[in-house]
Amino acid sequence: MFRVCILAWSLLSTFVMLNSSDILIESFNQAGQGQVFQFFDELDAATQTKLVAQAETIDLAEVEGLVDEHVKGSQHQTLNLDGLEPAPYEALAANGGDSAQWSAAKDAGSAALRAGRVAAFTVAGGQGTRLGYDGPKGTYPVTPVTGKTLFQVFAEKIARSGERYGVTIPWFILTSEINNDATVAEFEAADFFGLSRESVHFIVQGLVPAVDNEGKILLAEKGKIAMTPDGHGGSLRALVRSGAVDAMKAQGIDIVSYFQVDNPIVQCIDPAFIGFHVLGQSELSSKMVPKAYALEKVGHFCVQNGSALVVEYSDMPDEMQEETKACGGIRFNGGSVAIHIFDRDFITRAGGSGQGSKLPFHRADKKIPHVNTTGEMIQPDAPNGVKFEMFVFDALPLAKNPVIIEAARADDFSPVKNAEGVDSPQSSKEDQLRMFARWLKAAGEDIQTDDSGLPMIKFEISPRFAVDEADFVAQWVTLDPKTEIKDGAVIQ
Ligand code: UD1
Repeated sequence: MFRVCILAWSLLSTFVMLNSSDILIESFNQAGQGQVFQFFDELDAATQTKLVAQAETIDLAEVEGLVDEHVKGSQHQTLNLDGLEPAPYEALAANGGDSAQWSAAKDAGSAALRAGRVAAFTVAGGQGTRLGYDGPKGTYPVTPVTGKTLFQVFAEKIARSGERYGVTIPWFILTSEINNDATVAEFEAADFFGLSRESVHFIVQGLVPAVDNEGKILLAEKGKIAMTPDGHGGSLRALVRSGAVDAMKAQGIDIVSYFQVDNPIVQCIDPAFIGFHVLGQSELSSKMVPKAYALEKVGHFCVQNGSALVVEYSDMPDEMQEETKACGGIRFNGGSVAIHIFDRDFITRAGGSGQGSKLPFHRADKKIPHVNTTGEMIQPDAPNGVKFEMFVFDALPLAKNPVIIEAARADDFSPVKNAEGVDSPQSSKEDQLRMFARWLKAAGEDIQTDDSGLPMIKFEISPRFAVDEADFVAQWVTLDPKTEIKDGAVIQ
């Protein structure tokens, strides 16, 4: 009797499985995407199951909408630049801003931190192709003496900030299918860099299929769909779908400090920034830095029809990026350093599926290796298809009371993006050294530097010791005995 039941059950489940994959395949046929299953019968059972599981994650209606809008529609929609103006921002006290307001903001931010309302959020789901590094970008060594990785630097900053405000600051990290396992393995191997495991949350972002120039979904292999991460804008829906937003709510967290994985000098937790966000009752706050030069490859903070927005460098004509003001200086000078603070309920809205709240997708023409209809593997040498990505700064026009504050580039922004030259490991290490030298000078120490502020020796200040200049000065006073400042020294 028992054997009969098992047999009946396995027949039934085979039937249900076949049936559900048949329905799925039919839905792809109906959507004009039947080529995804073109080689299905040639695949072994395990690969068939994987392909079906992958196809199940695809929102065919979303793909159809994207193809209609970005592939079949007018190919390269240019952004409407009518009435675009530079966005107003809160200037640094050193650059003419109101020092009383900065100090009130710092107090308000410190209070929010002490009340345990703040979480850190790093987007680290990208592929880091420009750097030419294979592993997750966060595992790339960046500090000048000990070669700490980006993840270790952030972990130590978050730990030190928690210590300053007497709380454990939870850390949410956006990964993607491409790098999640390697990222988690790195944290495991490093024993979470001294953080409690429970305070670190990995969120895997969504994937979107890549399509050819006719809008047909491409196959990376006969049994595998070519899928790519849905952009850092996908972080908002990933936070919602993964339940992270609910977890934040349960912990009383309503302020989410967002930064990119590529920037080792970012102030992961900045009390003044948090304070401006809180006092401004903002749903989304952002840091700007004056551009280093007119054509710097950063987004531009603008306003249009009363709404704040970021216009990416690639969407703004060079003449506009180079425009100057009557009084001198670059007109569109507000560079986005991709450092934001999100209100938790705003994440729920902008990352949810409600009408009018979704972030738009952008089209990127790419070389996409794929299997063609005759089963041949093609490695294109020119763009042959389209990937779709959401950008997190597209949430700005959806936010109530957006706040933009100025940040000092030297204290917040020196990313590692390229293997050499601008924004490279070398330039970032030098900026870290300049920052450490400034902190030492502020603490009254004598240290030899060149005209650019670069010290003659290499040394390091551990983020576990201090996270900003004020913190360093206070810590240095009490350090006994003091670390001898010589080549290779590490203050920790
Ligand atoms: C980005 C911004 C630009 C800003 C600059 C500051 C865009 C389109 N532009 O440029 O406005 O001035 O940073 O440094 O973002 N990521 C994910 N998942 C993805 C894609 C990216 O988590 O699917 C993460 C990456 O890991 C990285 C960050 O987003 O931390 C930025 O991505 P990247 O493509 O390197 O942006 P940039 O072109 O450098």
